[in-house]
Amino acid sequence: MLRRLHPDQPESFAFTAANQAWAEGQITKYPEGRQASAIIPLLWRAQEQEGWLSRPAIEHVAAMLGLSYIRALEVATFYFMFQLQPVGAIAHIQVCGTTSCMICGAEDLVAVCKEKIAPNPHELSADGNFSWEEVECLGSCSNAPMAQIGKDYYEDLTTARMGEIIDELAAGKVPVPGPQNGRYAAEPLKGLTSLTEYDSGKTQYNASAQLAVDIGDTVKRIDGTEVPLVMPWQGKAANKAAKPAKPAKKEAAAPSEAGTKPQVMTAARDEGADDLKRIKGVGPKLEKMLNGMGFFHFDQIAAWSADEVAWVDENLEGFKGRVSRDQWVSQARALAEDKAT
Ligand code: FES
Repeated sequence: MLRRLHPDQPESFAFTAANQAWAEGQITKYPEGRQASAIIPLLWRAQEQEGWLSRPAIEHVAAMLGLSYIRALEVATFYFMFQLQPVGAIAHIQVCGTTSCMICGAEDLVAVCKEKIAPNPHELSADGNFSWEEVECLGSCSNAPMAQIGKDYYEDLTTARMGEIIDELAAGKVPVPGPQNGRYAAEPLKGLTSLTEYDSGKTQYNASAQLAVDIGDTVKRIDGTEVPLVMPWQGKAANKAAKPAKPAKKEAAAPSEAGTKPQVMTAARDEGADDLKRIKGVGPKLEKMLNGMGFFHFDQIAAWSADEVAWVDENLEGFKGRVSRDQWVSQARALAEDKAT
C-alpha cells in the first residue's frame, strides 16, 4: 500500500508540557549519539496526542532527535501503526484481512465497516467519530475473524457483533475486548482437550481482556497525565515538575450526588476482607478502590438498593457504570450465600 502524507496538514505541532517532559525522559534512555533510537516512542506519543501523525509532528520529533526529516518520515511511513491521516475521534477500526480471518469472514466485517462508517478505508464517518482500514495478520489467527480497535483485540467476530460494537462505542460504551463468542481465550472452540484441570475462572476474562477492562484502556488515548512522566534516573523532583496540574474535573472529585451513598465500614471485619475480585468484572484496581470507599465484604454489596447502586456506579472514577453493567449485587449475593454455607 502506498503510504503518503495527508494533503491537509496543520500549521504546526507541539507536544503538551506533560508529553514534552515524557519525550525528553525517553531520550535519556539512550547513550549520547544514539538518541535516534527514541524515534518510535516519540512518534507514537505524538500520534496518541493528536490521533494521527501530521508532517509538523514528524518534523518536530525529527528535530528533537537531531535527525534529518527524511529519516523520521521513513519510520512513520514504514510502520502501519502510524496513521498518516486523521482517524475517527472515537475509534479507528483495523480489520484483519489475512488468510485465517479472510476465510472466516473478514470481508463481511469490512462490509459492515463500509456500511456503518464510510465506503472507503481511512475515510472518516459523517460525524467524524469512526474510521476503518484493512490490515495484515494481527497474530490472533486462532480467533479469526478479528479486528483491533484502539489498543485491544476483538476476536471471534460476526457481522452482527461487529455492528453492535460500533453502536456501543458510538453510545459512549467500551465493549469488553477479547473473544466475542464466549470463548475464554484461544482454546479449541469445543473446549479444552488438555490441561483441563487449569482453573481459568480466576478472572472473568482472559488476562489481556481483563487488564483492558480493569484499566479501562481500549480506545482511550494516552493523554500525558500518566505517571511516571520521566525516567527514574531523572529523580523524583523532575517527575514532580513534569507532572501536569490536575485537570479541572479532578478538582471536582467530590462524591456525586446521584443516588444514595450506601453504608460504609471503616475497616474489614476481624475475619478479614472478602476477595472482592471474585466478583466478575472486579480486578485488583477496582478492589482497592472499593476498599478505599469502605466496602470490604460481599454482604455489603449484596445489600445495595437500586439507589445505592446508582451512587456507587457514579462514584467509581474511571469505572463508572460497572456495578450495574456487571451485576455486582446479584453476584455478591451468590458469593455471600456461598460463604455462609
Ligand atoms: S489472519 Fe487475522 S489475525 Fe492472523
